[in-house]
Amino acid sequence: MKDVDHMADQQIWLVTGAGRGLGVDIARAALAAGHAVVATARRPASIVAALGRHDDLLTVPLDVTDEGSVADAVRAGVERFGRLDVVVNNAGSFHAGFFEEMDAGDFRAQIETTLFGPVAVTRAALPQMRAQRSGLVVTISSTAGIAAEGEFLTAYAASKFGVEGFMEGLAPEIAPFGIRTMILEPGFFRTELLTPQSTRFAEPSIADYADRSEATTAAWRGMDGRQGGDPARLAQALVHLAALPEPPARFAAGADAIQTFERKAATLLAQAVAHRDLSGSLAHDDADLDGRAAAPAVAPYRRGMKIVVTSRSGSPDDQVRQELEAVDQALRQSFSGFDPDVIVPEVERSFAQLAVQPSPADVLAYARAIGDRADFELVID
Ligand SMILES: NC(=O)c1ccc[n+]([C@@H]2O[C@H](COP(=O)([O-])OP(=O)(O)OC[C@H]3O[C@@H](n4cnc5c(N)ncnc54)[C@H](OP(=O)(O)O)[C@@H]3O)[C@@H](O)[C@H]2O)c1
Repeated sequence: MKDVDHMADQQIWLVTGAGRGLGVDIARAALAAGHAVVATARRPASIVAALGRHDDLLTVPLDVTDEGSVADAVRAGVERFGRLDVVVNNAGSFHAGFFEEMDAGDFRAQIETTLFGPVAVTRAALPQMRAQRSGLVVTISSTAGIAAEGEFLTAYAASKFGVEGFMEGLAPEIAPFGIRTMILEPGFFRTELLTPQSTRFAEPSIADYADRSEATTAAWRGMDGRQGGDPARLAQALVHLAALPEPPARFAAGADAIQTFERKAATLLAQAVAHRDLSGSLAHDDADLDGRAAAPAVAPYRRGMKIVVTSRSGSPDDQVRQELEAVDQALRQSFSGFDPDVIVPEVERSFAQLAVQPSPADVLAYARAIGDRADFELVID
C-alpha cells in the first residue's frame, strides 16, 4: 500500500544515477511511498530495466558532467510534473589510488563527477525551487566527506569534502526561500560502487608504493559485495527524512558512519585546543577576544556568565534535544575544566536549550565550538 494518500503529500523527486546502485533503491522507495520520480541516468534504458514502467516515473537521460543534459532533464521533469520537491545528487564513481600514482586527469574526473556534478544539478534545480518557495536538495556524500581515513582516498575525499562545503555554504543562502539541504553520509553500502564499472584504480607506477599498492587494491576489491549497509534500507530512511517538516542538515548513514562522525568530532575538538594559547594569540591587539574584530560571536568570558545554546530551528522535539546533549557531552569531554554537574540540559518553552554555568576559562572555547555550528545559536546572559 502506498504511504501517500493525498496529492498534497506527494513529492516530486529527481534522482541522478538511477540506473544502478543506490539511485535505483532511492527511486524505488520514493515510488513505493507514493511520490513521483524523475529518474535520470546516462543510459535511461538501465532505469527501465531496473524499475520497469510506472505512471509516476519519468526516465530522462542525464550525465552529471554534461550541463546541457542536466538542464534538459530538470526542464523535462518540471514540464511533466509541474514542480520539483526533492533533488537527490546521487551519481558517483570512485577513482582510487595513491595520489602520486593517480593520473591528473583521473583526479579531475572524480571532482567533475562527485563535486561539479551536484553543483550543476543543484544550479539547474534551484530556480524552480525558488519560484515555488520550497524544496530539498539532498547530496549523497560519504563518510569520506567527513574524514579521509585510509589509503587511496585523496581524489574521492577531496570531491566529497568539497560537496560538504558546497551544501553547507548553500544552506543559509537558500533558506529564506524555504529550500533546505541535506547531506547524507553513507558508510559502506553493498552497491556496485566497488565494481569495475564504478571504481577505477590508478596504474601502479612508483616502486616505493608497490607493496602497499598491491595490498590496498586487494583490500578494496575484497570489500566488493561484502559491505554491511543495505541500500534499500538507506533509501527508505531517505524517503522518511525527506518527508519530515525539518529534515536534518546531515545524516550519518550506518553504524560505521556514526563512528566516523564521533572520531572526527573528537579529533577536531582535540585539535582545536591542542595549541590553545598559540591559536588564541593571533589577533590584532585591538580585536575582540575571540579573534574576530567584526561582530564577535562570543562575548568575553566573565564570571557568572550564562550561555544558552538554542536550536535555530526552534523545534522542541526530542531529536534536537538529543543532538544538543550529544554535542554538549562531546565538548565537555574535550574541555578538561568542566564539571559535568553544572551543565543542565533543559527544555524551556518551545526551545531545546542547554544552560551552562561557566566556571573555567574553557567556556569560551566551548562557546566558540558550539557557536560555529550552523544549526545552533548562542545567547549570552
Ligand atoms: N556504496 C557505498 O558504500 C557508498 C558509500 C559512500 C558514498 N556513496 C555514494 O553513493 C552514491 C551512489 O553510489 P552507489 O554506491 O550507488 O554506486 P554505484 O552502484 O556504482 O552507482 C553509481 C551510479 O552513478 C552513476 N553515474 C556515474 N557517473 C555518472 C555520470 N557522470 N552521470 C550520471 N550518472 C553517473 C552510475 O551510472 P552508470 O550506470 O551510467 O555508470 C550509477 O548509476 C555515490 O555518490 C557514492 O559516492 C556510496
